[in-house]
Amino acid sequence: MIPAEDLQCLKAIALRGGCKGPVFVSTQSIGTMLAISQQTASRRLKGLETNGLITRSMTADGQHVTVTKLGEDELRREFQEYSRIFTEGGKTYSLHGAVVSGIGEGKYYMSLPEYKAQFKQILGFEPYPGTLNIRITHASIPTRKKIDSMEWIRVKGFSADGRTFGDARCIPCRIGTISCGIVVPGRTHYPEDIIEVIAPIALRRKLGVEDSDSIRVEVGP
Ligand code: CDP
Repeated sequence: MIPAEDLQCLKAIALRGGCKGPVFVSTQSIGTMLAISQQTASRRLKGLETNGLITRSMTADGQHVTVTKLGEDELRREFQEYSRIFTEGGKTYSLHGAVVSGIGEGKYYMSLPEYKAQFKQILGFEPYPGTLNIRITHASIPTRKKIDSMEWIRVKGFSADGRTFGDARCIPCRIGTISCGIVVPGRTHYPEDIIEVIAPIALRRKLGVEDSDSIRVEVGP
C-alpha cells in the first residue's frame, strides 16, 4: 500500500493519460488539481519516481511523466476496492460456453514451477498442467466484464533460462463442484470471448467433455 497522497497524485497523472504513455505535466497543474503547493507537488512526483511508480523526463518548462506497471497496479487495487463498495457483494456469476482447443501453450506455462507455486498459494491446489479453454457465449460477455471488475489476484512474472515470463491474474471459480481458477495473461491483448480455466485435475477426462461441448463456470460465493 502506498500513502493516500501519493495515490491521489498518481491518479491525477493517470487521468491525464499517464497510463497510456508520457504526458506533459507541470508541478503547478498537479498542485492545482490536488490543492497543494507547487513545492509539495514537486516532492510528490519525486517520491513517486523514487518508488518506481512513475518514470519522468524533464524539460525546461515541465516534465513528461508515465505511470509504470507498478503504479498502474496500485491504481487498479484502489479501483477494485471501490468496485467492491459499489457492486453487489455476494453474487454468483455464471459464464456459459463451449470447450475449445488452444494451441497447446497452457501445458507449457502451467508446468513452470514458478507459476505452479503461485497458483498453489492462490487457489490452494497444484494445477493440472494445462488450461481448459472455453469460448463463452455472446450472452455471457457482459457477465465476463462484471467478473473482470471483481478482485483478481496477481500472479507475478519472473525470469528463467534467459526468458522473461509475464504477469497474469487469477480468480477462483467452480465448474460443478470442482474448485478451479480463471487465468488471464498480463500484457497480451486477450480475446473477450475466451477464458482459460485451471483445475487440480484433468477436466476433460473428469467431466467427459470434448470440443464444442457446453460447460458452465461460476464465480462468486
Ligand atoms: O491450449 P490447449 O487447449 O491445446 O492445451 P493445454 O492448455 O496445453 O492443455 C492440454 C489439454 O488438457 C487440453 O486438451 C486441455 O483442454 C486439457 N485440460 C484439462 O482437461 N483439464 C485441465 N485442468 C487443464 C487442461
